[in-house]
Amino acid sequence: MNAADGVEIAPSQPWQAPHLEALQVRCFPTLGAQELMRAEHFLRHLEVFPEADLVAVAHVGRDGAPLAEPEVVGLGSGFFVDFDFDDPGHTFRELIDDGWYGRHDPSGAWYYGADVSVDPAWRGLGVGRRLYDARKDLVRRHGKRGIVAGGVIPGFAQHKHAMSAAAYVAKVVAGELADPTLTMQLRNGFEVEGVLQGYLEDSAADDWAALIVWRDPSFRSADEALRSP
Ligand SMILES: CC(C)(COP(=O)(O)OP(=O)(O)OC[C@H]1O[C@@H](n2cnc3c(N)ncnc32)[C@H](O)[C@@H]1OP(=O)(O)O)[C@@H](O)C(=O)NCCC(=O)NCCS
Repeated sequence: MNAADGVEIAPSQPWQAPHLEALQVRCFPTLGAQELMRAEHFLRHLEVFPEADLVAVAHVGRDGAPLAEPEVVGLGSGFFVDFDFDDPGHTFRELIDDGWYGRHDPSGAWYYGADVSVDPAWRGLGVGRRLYDARKDLVRRHGKRGIVAGGVIPGFAQHKHAMSAAAYVAKVVAGELADPTLTMQLRNGFEVEGVLQGYLEDSAADDWAALIVWRDPSFRSADEALRSP
């Protein structure tokens, strides 16, 4: 059995909040501390939108042995907004309301992907893919258009002296370079719509990120449904 088969993905519970705070620190070593969410943020999310935090919990270890305590190994987090694609520039902290998710709008057309992260010890096993699948399922169940996010580009660090962020992202999209995060998002059906300067404090990537979008192919607006029922 793949160890990731023993990982359950479900909306968060209050006991997980301090574990999610610790997971942020393990997963984002190059981000400024003010970019990371803390236990109190995760507790607030439960009040704002109970499905905001989808948590991956392992019940067996990577070696297949049962764990004495369930272990928080991943997070897929976000909320609904009306995203303006004609004016897409934004910073991470502004959109996530400094982590409090105060801009959550239940009637917003898009899911804003605020965070996807898998414990370094659990990467490469398909947990990230399953978190994306759970988010896509959430989008379909709520009748949203898709997922929009600012995607960090950690691999840009090795290339930033040789090319611009836009050129780097174009090479990753073309498959000429692989990025630890963006490549994974492209494999999960995301498309790049541009780059975002000053998106978040990320020393590795000089604060650059990619604007990424996944459009639900099964989405039909009310108008479309009326035209061809
Ligand atoms: C990005 C992240 C969530 C991926 O999680 P993961 O559990 O390792 O991903 P998976 O094992 O589900 O891999 C999903 C796909 O991406 C590919 N992939 C994963 N890591 C990769 C890497 N470093 N380079 C290239 N491809 C990669 C896998 O091959 C897989 O493709 P496939 O399903 O077609 O075979 C994880 O690496 C992480 O937490 N990174 C740090 C935090 C971060 O940057 N989050 C994104 C914020 S925008």
